[in-house]
Amino acid sequence: MKETKTIKQVTTQDGYDKWAVSYDFEDNPLVVLEEPIFKSMLGDVSGKSVLELGCGTGRHSHHIFNKGARLTAVDFSDEMLLVARQKMAEGVQFVRHDIHKPWPFETDSFDLVVSSLVLEHVKFLMPFFGEAKRVSKKGARILFTTMHPAMFLRDKQAHYYDANENIEFRFESYDHQISDFINAAINVELTLNEVNEYMPNESTFEKSPKSRKFINWPMLLTLDLTNN
Ligand SMILES: C[S@@+](CC[C@H](N)C(=O)[O-])C[C@H]1O[C@@H](n2cnc3c(N)ncnc32)[C@H](O)[C@@H]1O
Repeated sequence: MKETKTIKQVTTQDGYDKWAVSYDFEDNPLVVLEEPIFKSMLGDVSGKSVLELGCGTGRHSHHIFNKGARLTAVDFSDEMLLVARQKMAEGVQFVRHDIHKPWPFETDSFDLVVSSLVLEHVKFLMPFFGEAKRVSKKGARILFTTMHPAMFLRDKQAHYYDANENIEFRFESYDHQISDFINAAINVELTLNEVNEYMPNESTFEKSPKSRKFINWPMLLTLDLTNN
């Protein structure tokens, strides 16, 4: 008989440090769904100064850099940053920083600010949105993707499963509602261009067998904002 797994709550940083080595190789339905959506939101980044918050293993950093952007990529997990740095020998400026603290960048610095699958780990949305506005130039776009709040209703949150120990490590996460994201944007006076919600589709199922259990279930939320 299969033993019931143990669930352990860990800090976000410890969780991602554990997950870093296998993050890029797992069947992760949310990542598979998000990747083409994020790329299509991004548009032309050639020659732009881009700030990426919570770059992780550099899944998107690699793409943004190869498209000709000047990229600054931030994360607080040493292990995730190690994997990201190994992919990009040079060119990207990686910064180790906790994005809950004021960001170490000048005001009006970036043409584009992006963050993928990180907002569910951000406790206070307003300071985060406020910093995105502060460091971006006037007219800059700000693109965020995040785990859809409906995923928490399925008892899903970012986690790492250690098969040897049969332990699921769950990382500190916050089930912000869609209205919380919208109100954070309104409160710091960012212009909301679009909010979208996504469910897995045939193309997700092909690449991620695990995504089948989320048929007709919203998994991803995206926000397209401008600093006007
Ligand atoms: C789900 S991963 C996403 C990584 C990458 N953006 C992607 O989409 O593949 C979330 C990342 O956010 C980082 N992160 C979470 N909270 C953070 C914080 N307070 N400061 C800096 N990085 C943080 C984690 O270390 C992790 O690398």
